[in-house]
Amino acid sequence: MCGIVGYVGYRDCSDVLVSALTKLEYRGYDSAGIAVFEDNKISVSKSKGKLKNLVEKMAEEGKPVGIAGIGHTRWATHGEPSDVNSHPHSGAKVTLVHNGIIENYKELKDFLVKQGREFLSDTDTEVVAQLLDYYYDIIKEPVKAIIETTQELRGSFALGIVFEDYPDMVYAIRRESPLIVGVGENENFIASDVPAIIKYTKDYYLLEHDEIAVLSKSGVKIFDIHYQPIVKELKTADWDADAVGKCGYPHYMIKEINEQPTAIKNTVLPRIKDGLPCLEECNITPEALKDINRIHIVACGSAMHSGMVGKYVIEDLARTPVIVDIASEFRYRNPIIGEGDLIIIISQSGETADSLEAMRLAKRKGAKTLAIVNVMGSTIAREADMLIYTHAGPEISVASTKAYMVQLAVMYLFAFEFAFAKGNITDEKYRYYTEKLLETPEMVEKVIAQTTEISQKISTKLLTADSLLYIGRGLDYALSMEGSLKLKEISYIHSESYAAGELKHGTISLITEDMPVIAVATQSSIYEKTVSNIKEVKARGAKVIMICQEGNDVPKDIADYVLKVPNFEEVLLPMLVCVPLQLIAYYTSVQRGNDVDQPRNLAKSVTVE
Ligand code: AGP
Repeated sequence: MCGIVGYVGYRDCSDVLVSALTKLEYRGYDSAGIAVFEDNKISVSKSKGKLKNLVEKMAEEGKPVGIAGIGHTRWATHGEPSDVNSHPHSGAKVTLVHNGIIENYKELKDFLVKQGREFLSDTDTEVVAQLLDYYYDIIKEPVKAIIETTQELRGSFALGIVFEDYPDMVYAIRRESPLIVGVGENENFIASDVPAIIKYTKDYYLLEHDEIAVLSKSGVKIFDIHYQPIVKELKTADWDADAVGKCGYPHYMIKEINEQPTAIKNTVLPRIKDGLPCLEECNITPEALKDINRIHIVACGSAMHSGMVGKYVIEDLARTPVIVDIASEFRYRNPIIGEGDLIIIISQSGETADSLEAMRLAKRKGAKTLAIVNVMGSTIAREADMLIYTHAGPEISVASTKAYMVQLAVMYLFAFEFAFAKGNITDEKYRYYTEKLLETPEMVEKVIAQTTEISQKISTKLLTADSLLYIGRGLDYALSMEGSLKLKEISYIHSESYAAGELKHGTISLITEDMPVIAVATQSSIYEKTVSNIKEVKARGAKVIMICQEGNDVPKDIADYVLKVPNFEEVLLPMLVCVPLQLIAYYTSVQRGNDVDQPRNLAKSVTVE
């Protein structure tokens, strides 16, 4: 997703903007640019490609020198990645940057062309710049012009704006796309996300829909859409700059894999009271849970995969039906939602457009919504009826690892609480499962240590594969989905997760000696069944990598590689087995020389449909 930054203060604005934009690179982008007040004129520099291209361009052409300006990293939606389509975009007196999608930009562009305005780019953003310039030319006052302009926009936007007639001032407004206002000492900021400003200040305002911020060096004013001043709560980030740094790791992804034990502790421990789950601070009481007779889990990507694990565990322990949906499918199939349904929305960013709109749809249909979110104050977090924050800290790598892990942890907390509230597990079992959950940080630590080397070795055998299968049954099948996505998204090798028992109904025709198969076989109750499926693919020449428990005695001819995790309570094994699946994907990507943390075409938070 695009990243927006803005600055007014006493430092070199261009340096601050570029530095802040580097902390938003994880969002994914294909061009970058800045606009800085220089001698009361707006000086723009922008370039296709990574930030380093912009820095090189400014070194050649001269860096804008000033104390106020805006910056942007663009993830192309309208118009290909190019210099001319990069932000900022300008009118005669107005320059701005934009995150989001303007759905009615074509009709607005037609109107502006009729007014004699010319366009240089293919973007919806330039239409906003020209429309704002049009109204500013009439109204002559920035905030009123912003209000008038944005009333005509349909879609999502976060805008950072400068007006040539108002030097060293920065303006901002948001609708759907997140935007914060950082408050420092004699300096103020706007940014799409906290990591961009954490180096300068931890204090910020979270702009709500259609709120307008006016920044000067001396202070910040915020107005509503009626130009009425608003007093807002100043928030403080609960982590610091080095949480955003790599701390000596070569990539954010491997750092975040190693942060998983801490992330689990930070997420689980605050929700344990007297040895049992306690979710009352999340508005979840045993009384409220008793009335639930069906659960929908709705999410995207890895978040959806954590929901798949949740499905198997909740149905097994609580005997309540769970339907897992991809958010973009749920939204458009007119889902059947009735009395007693609970909709669980899982989202690391809390800004994924499909998941957000799915939650809003469920609420319109009268369902109760529970959000499991990692980013404080995100839109999904603020609109859900009930909320469980995960505490993974900022996840910078596009590939989700620690966030997925703590989503699993919360799924378990909820499943145990729910199963006990429904009277389907005894107090003894309830306590036992909780105790085992509390052991997972240490177990994950052990698995990281035990499986890093073999994962690295296995990854060398996958480098030349065109395609892989990940197979499993039950919880192992749910896990195989996540393993497959991890590999695809960062190594660019195609893979597919497949229910092991389903292979013989067609897909096994794909098996040759050139197709590696990663088989997850950790569940005793179906272990023999999965082993039979492994034999089926082995007999057809597949190179098999088998993941199982230490206690499994695996005959020599079953698999080419056997990766073992410690014996542990089987219902919680997904929290252990996801680690080697993450590591295999990581090392495969590294050895293929890919941009591990910012894979091509991907964004960390998909805030557009
Ligand atoms: C996971 O590795 C991907 N980066 C992606 O599938 C992600 O899980 C998905 O886009 C959902 O994002 P969210 O959790 O922020 O809603």
